[in-house]
Amino acid sequence: MSILLFNPDSDPALASQLARLLDAQAGVLEQRRFPDGESYLRVHTECKGRRCVILCNLFHPDERLLRLLFLADTLREMGASEVGLVTPYLAYMRQDKRFKPGECVSSRPFARLLSEAFDYLVTVDPHLHRYHSLDEIYTIPSRVVQAAPLIAHWIGQHIRDPLLIGPDSESEQWVSHVAGLAGVPFQILQKERRGDYDVSISLPDLEQGQQCTPVLVDDIISSGRTMLETLSHLQSAGLPRATIIGVHGIFAGDAYTRLTQIADVVTTACIPHLSNQIDIAPPIAEAVRELMQQRDTD
Ligand code: R5P
Repeated sequence: MSILLFNPDSDPALASQLARLLDAQAGVLEQRRFPDGESYLRVHTECKGRRCVILCNLFHPDERLLRLLFLADTLREMGASEVGLVTPYLAYMRQDKRFKPGECVSSRPFARLLSEAFDYLVTVDPHLHRYHSLDEIYTIPSRVVQAAPLIAHWIGQHIRDPLLIGPDSESEQWVSHVAGLAGVPFQILQKERRGDYDVSISLPDLEQGQQCTPVLVDDIISSGRTMLETLSHLQSAGLPRATIIGVHGIFAGDAYTRLTQIADVVTTACIPHLSNQIDIAPPIAEAVRELMQQRDTD
């Protein structure tokens, strides 16, 4: 029997790509809100004994999580043989430390909720900073798809003489990987974040980079302040218009408008957005297949 793929509305384009790559049948859902705002969910596809995959991309997670958990629970009650989660963007990973007394380290309860509901997890470049692996907080098997080869390929095809710039120490893991694969130079800057919209970035060393095209690479673009602050240094130094590449383009508020005024903005298709230029469906489908094979042999 073919795999059943459900997509509770987070990303129809990626869902149809994955259905084709996994040779999966699209599961049919009925979803609506009751007048009081609670969620109504009904599964219209028979799933007894079938492998189910839910693609639920967890950007804006608070809007999506409850319905996702309801769906996983319903599929199990209906007799699904397994329920896996594909979320190209894994939310709450940046809350990995208690900075002030009483703060919720949200990554942990979030990981517990997903680990209880699913048999496995596939995601793309989660923000692993203080955690070295998802296994530190997730108790289910997971696969991390790396966007670096796809980004390196895109840079090779589109940018002449790139100089890769990572805006902070956390970005080094991605920037150095992309630079190594693309065979181009890179620099890592230092960031100090004092608040959501209050960021300062160290000055780049541009002595040898004046002739290059600056390419800023980071895993997440959220408020955009990290990128905007870095771009302002490059502009002051008289460098050519930069390209910024984000694995996960969240673009909170007016971030995208502000960024596109001064740079070319490119993202992977991890979060559906008009800046998407880098396809991620094939390695995600491969990761799902690997996890299924591993479960078959265990
Ligand atoms: C954190 O260190 C991440 O790698 C990004 O640099 C950060 O999330 C970007 O956030 P924002 O766009 O709000 O500055």
